[in-house]
Amino acid sequence: MSQAPLLAGVVGNPIGHSRSPALHGHWLRRYGIAGHYIPIELRPEHFETGIRALPKLGFRGINVTIPYKETILSMADQVSDRASLIGAANTIMFREDGGIYADNTDGYGFISNLEHHAPAWSAKSGPALVLGAGGAAKAIVAAMVQAGAPEIRIANRTRNRAEALRERFGARVTVVDWNMAAGAMADTATIINTTSLGMDGQPPLNLTFEAAPKSALATDIVYAPLITPFLSRAAEAGLVTVDGLGMLLHQAAPGFQHWFGVRPDVDDDLRAAVLSA
Ligand code: ATR
Repeated sequence: MSQAPLLAGVVGNPIGHSRSPALHGHWLRRYGIAGHYIPIELRPEHFETGIRALPKLGFRGINVTIPYKETILSMADQVSDRASLIGAANTIMFREDGGIYADNTDGYGFISNLEHHAPAWSAKSGPALVLGAGGAAKAIVAAMVQAGAPEIRIANRTRNRAEALRERFGARVTVVDWNMAAGAMADTATIINTTSLGMDGQPPLNLTFEAAPKSALATDIVYAPLITPFLSRAAEAGLVTVDGLGMLLHQAAPGFQHWFGVRPDVDDDLRAAVLSA
């Protein structure tokens, strides 16, 4: 008798653009696992009942994406320290007893991507400049605090969102005016775009890198296009650059391991599979 296939998926609204099914689908094929990873679109009024139904249908867990990363926490029976620090979850395990365990692997994915593509980089080597103060910034600031960045400067168009992050993450976080961001690159080790600027269909993030040390690393969370105007300007200025696709790939690995039982590799084949999806 064959066993029921292992099930996981991603819940959001809209969900059609998500690369996660291509990513997990690649790993399932590569490791020959009898499983499925399914995109699920839930409207807000169906979110809670929809989530509650999934373990009954045999789902071992799910990823949660926009706009539900915060909502899911209120349904969780158990929340990891990092999800609780960030105030949002992206990786959900359904426990044997039907309970919901909520974790957040975005910060892990962010740091792993930099360590993978720039082995000489360390968060500890100097201040970081974070551009943006939305949901992605929250996970990245938490990860940079935990990774030992000595100072984290946040510049955001809407200053009070940056101030809210300073209040949340404490003494090492400082707030910089959005129009002073280029100057705040002085003596940084890491410069991070967490805004949606530079994404296909969005205006570019126009910053000059003259103030940045040549030793600094610039990275973007935008990965469509892979090389954003922000990254190409940083590269022209002689900085080390790391694109944002790897963050998406690395954040997916802990969930895959938990649901499907294999620690998956993040490599060029996976990048190619996700890019061509
Ligand atoms: P996410 O969860 O992906 O981070 P978000 O919470 O909507 O999404 O945050 C988007 C970020 O991009 C914010 O920092 C936003 O700045 P505001 O807080 O001022 O809205 C930033 N952003 C988006 N469009 C921008 C623009 N045209 N100029 C400057 N910043 C922009």
